[in-house]
Amino acid sequence: MKTNQFISQNELDEQKRIALALSKEIEPRGLTFFVETFGCQMNVRDSETIKGWLCEIGYTEAEDKESADFILFNTCCVRDHAEKRLMGNIGALKELKDARPGTIIGVCGCMMQQEGVAKKLLKRFPHVSLVFGTNVLHRFPSMLQTVLNGERIAVADRADDAIAEGLPKMRDNLRSAFVNIMYGCDNYCSYCIVPYVRGRERSRRPEDVKREIVSLVSSGISEITLLGQNVNSYGNDGSTGMRFADLLRYVSDVPGLRRIRFMSSHPKDLNDDVIRAIAEIPNVCHHVHLPVQSGNNEILKRMNRRYTREHYLSIVQRLREAVPDIEFTTDIIVGFPGETEEAFNDTMSLVKEVGFAAAFTFAYSPRQGTVAARMEDQIPEPVKKQRLSALNTLQAEKTVENNEKYIGHVGEVLVEGCDCRGEATMLYGKYPNFKMVYFPGDPALLNRYVTVKVTKTNKNSLLGEMIHA
Ligand code: SAH
Ligand code: SF4
Ligand code: F3S
Repeated sequence: MKTNQFISQNELDEQKRIALALSKEIEPRGLTFFVETFGCQMNVRDSETIKGWLCEIGYTEAEDKESADFILFNTCCVRDHAEKRLMGNIGALKELKDARPGTIIGVCGCMMQQEGVAKKLLKRFPHVSLVFGTNVLHRFPSMLQTVLNGERIAVADRADDAIAEGLPKMRDNLRSAFVNIMYGCDNYCSYCIVPYVRGRERSRRPEDVKREIVSLVSSGISEITLLGQNVNSYGNDGSTGMRFADLLRYVSDVPGLRRIRFMSSHPKDLNDDVIRAIAEIPNVCHHVHLPVQSGNNEILKRMNRRYTREHYLSIVQRLREAVPDIEFTTDIIVGFPGETEEAFNDTMSLVKEVGFAAAFTFAYSPRQGTVAARMEDQIPEPVKKQRLSALNTLQAEKTVENNEKYIGHVGEVLVEGCDCRGEATMLYGKYPNFKMVYFPGDPALLNRYVTVKVTKTNKNSLLGEMIHA
């Protein structure tokens, strides 16, 4: 049985002491921070921890980047495009730093964890003074202290591949929260950089997960999303004494917890226990984000996904039998090395067959250090673009089709926001199965549950009316 490493209480106490000492200087000066987050929910959640530290250190949140005393980019490197954008963003801050030399500019996250990148970035941008990777968030106060003392540092070691409990966090969202159940990834899909920048897969203790949920719910949050790169392999290493289906049951009885979501699910580990758990536990939402990546078995094999098209379709079928109103969303990559026109058509036919509520589609982007980047038969960019656009057109049709079946549907919606630009104020929110609906209503209903009936569909969305608040 594997046992996970944890950051010791002593180490954490030491960091809290540093934060408190710094706050005595920072707070009276009224300094502010701005954290800009790229990438997935993991980064969103990490930014909450960093902002939590910044608050303990005495900073308050700035209105915008330009006025902040501490600016941090939390980066993603899953596709090429993210990098170009980031470099532009950092470059653009040089003038600001020249005008206000006291400003601290930092860069953190997945991209900084790539081989050699952290040090290179520090060299390339003299106006950046703090660079750190994904596994040192628990040491944020001491890193910032070093920078405040005038040094420029890059910290991106692998040594701290341990779980840190009890870190501070600042949350913007009062209705919904992300809760990590595991970190890292061991799947090594051949195209993917995540295992290299997020480290080995490790699961949190069930008690720690539940304690966090209890505390969130007591602060008014009623919807949580359990996060992991592959939530279905939670506890598979034997380190927690519980598998994912058990964890769902274990956390579901927290009083006041109305909605449990989870993502992402890897098809290879989504077993019948999980299907039963989704069907039986009343507050588990009827939505599964189940990335398929490709509909062709040869490509799936080369992607190292370890399931077949047939297996994927059988999960969808079993889930639909057990949970008739379930909706699926997915991730798809087109133009993976060796993808023939025929193989691409298998993806198209799978998309037709499943009828996803939504699909996040990407052109394959070679990532340095991954197996797929070294494969010979890379697909030319124009072909990737063409396939992406054909796929998007098909999915758009399927989305419209999927929406049409909702006419007349009545269900509970958690109000997430309002669009006040038009004549009438339109609220929006999601049904438990992730379908979003727009309806006229009073912005005071934000973060509340209301019952909404779908009256018509728009290209991408459902429109409805509130039948009671
Ligand atoms: N752990 C999640 C996915 C994390 S990355 C899972 O396995 O489901 C989110 C999505 O980005 C992936 O599902 C994949 O579709 C896409 N992606 C990852 N690496 C990519 C690459 N090199 N090029 C294009 N898309 C990629
Ligand atoms: Fe990447 Fe695959 Fe891990 Fe998802 S499961 S993060 S796609 S290696
Ligand atoms: Fe997420 Fe991007 Fe990192 S997708 S795990 S933020 S590389």
